[in-house]
Amino acid sequence: MDINGYKRYISEETMMGPNSVRILAELFERYPLQLTADDQILDLGCGTGLTSLVIAKETGAKVYANDLWVSAEENGKRFARWGIGGQVMPVCEDANHLHFEQKQFSALVSIDSYHYFAGREGFFQEKILPLIKDGGAVLIGIPGLKEEYANRAEELLSDWLGDEAYMFKCPAHWKVLIGRHERIESVKTWEMDCFGKAWEEWLAVNNQFARGDRQYFETIIRPYTCFVGICVKLR
Ligand SMILES: C[S@@+](CC[C@H](N)C(=O)[O-])C[C@H]1O[C@@H](n2cnc3c(N)ncnc32)[C@H](O)[C@@H]1O
Repeated sequence: MDINGYKRYISEETMMGPNSVRILAELFERYPLQLTADDQILDLGCGTGLTSLVIAKETGAKVYANDLWVSAEENGKRFARWGIGGQVMPVCEDANHLHFEQKQFSALVSIDSYHYFAGREGFFQEKILPLIKDGGAVLIGIPGLKEEYANRAEELLSDWLGDEAYMFKCPAHWKVLIGRHERIESVKTWEMDCFGKAWEEWLAVNNQFARGDRQYFETIIRPYTCFVGICVKLR
């Protein structure tokens, strides 16, 4: 996909961290989704719905844009303004208590949010797997620890993240957390390539969160962290 086509949507208003469109582009390049207008995709923890827009345009599928902190009303207004109101449905639910139908989705995408609610063994099998169709795919991109610093998140990241440091885990740890199930065909986790670019684009934003991250980029973020890519394919 050509990220340049989405530049006008990537702004201070829509960004909530490192460029989510860049992270999504790497997932789609590595694991393309072949979907049609009859398919439904869940964008879990979509924030302002920037990735929901891109998923809708790139796949043609119907997208459910679910987030907890951003209301369905706010996202709905944005989607109408972007002209995608008929294709992208805003939803505001906690990922622990979703009310979608069993096997409703051909795919689930989650960018920079899965680590907030899914960092325990069994979450994927209990909360995610029932929602995905047989043969479906789950694509996740989240910040995490580089493999060589496994299990040292609190020691290395607390000055930056405070009591949220524990959420950062390395690719091998996420593979264990996703776990196994008879419906899971494969689980791949890896350190993503888009780290430098996605961070550079976020640090150029002029808001208090980006300014806060800028303070720690050279001393903590760049040396110890990465983006973890996760692809789960179902049988
Ligand atoms: C850093 S923002 C990223 C948003 C967006 N995906 C992006 O990349 O710009 C993290 C998002 O995770 C969502 N989130 C955190 N906990 C959640 C939960 N329990 N259920 C659903 N979403 C959650 C928040 O609402 C927030 O929008």
